[in-house]
Amino acid sequence: MQLKSRHLLGLEGVCQEDITLILDTAESFKKVLDRPIPKVPTLRGKTVANLFFEPSTRTRFSFELAEKRLSADSVNFSKVGSSVAKGETLKDTARNIEAMKINFVVMRHSAPGAPHFLSQCLDSVVINAGDGAHEHPTQALLDMMTLRNCFQSLKGLKVVIVGDIEHSRVARSNIYGLLTMGANVGVCGPATLIPREIKALGVTVYPGIEEAMKEADVLNVLRIQLERQKEALFPSLREYRNLFGITRERLDRVNRRITIMHPGPINRGVELDSDVADGDYSVILSQVTNGVAVRMAVLYLLDGGRQKLEGDDHGN
Ligand code: CP
Repeated sequence: MQLKSRHLLGLEGVCQEDITLILDTAESFKKVLDRPIPKVPTLRGKTVANLFFEPSTRTRFSFELAEKRLSADSVNFSKVGSSVAKGETLKDTARNIEAMKINFVVMRHSAPGAPHFLSQCLDSVVINAGDGAHEHPTQALLDMMTLRNCFQSLKGLKVVIVGDIEHSRVARSNIYGLLTMGANVGVCGPATLIPREIKALGVTVYPGIEEAMKEADVLNVLRIQLERQKEALFPSLREYRNLFGITRERLDRVNRRITIMHPGPINRGVELDSDVADGDYSVILSQVTNGVAVRMAVLYLLDGGRQKLEGDDHGN
């Protein structure tokens, strides 16, 4: 069982067969995580460097847990407190860490394409944990795993991504992955935050949230990036909430179940109200749980997927 690519840099161009292999493998690892001792020796002897040049809670924590559950050794890099402050380049930082004999680099960076660049300078396997507004492939994989758990199949499912599509790596990876898996994808948000070329990908654009909610099986609600508000891409947070916020009142008006997702962190009371985020239709914490299993599957498969999976043993 092997993926076609040596690295996971994005979901653009990743085929249905590989996405299905990752999601199926993640289901096996999810069973491991439910055991009294949730650990397998699959990556014993392998070392992972987690290079986080940008803040993260969920992605960083779940990669670290995935590595521990697979018995890999891991080392963690944060930009703050590193020699980057002394002017060291990304290439030098990564090559110096690799010289200490590592096998995988998991990387988050604000520059789109940074993991792709590293994959050309290093011998290690590189996994993109989010690069600027480009891609966040493991987030989209855990989103698809969560949807498969709810709906069995992604084919024909209507998923609408709501919010700042223009600046969202989560949106981009979800669009590539979901379309490949046969889902219908829509986007909804202020016109200033919807890329002009998005329709060419085969995505439906909904100018209004009511119209989107009439058709959606799933709303994947994105964080409004408050730090971008200085660019005046929409008039105010209050207006954003009035026009696009997912409120209990709006859900009640639709009068049928719409599954609610959010990659986190949530701005409660802006893009999503608390009673919806914590309500019966929300799968937000299942997304987080599935993140560990998906990242175990990605690490395992990029290591060559050599150990047997029978009985979900993963090398036991
Ligand atoms: N979903 C996500 O990427 O969250 P973090 O920024 O906390 O990793």
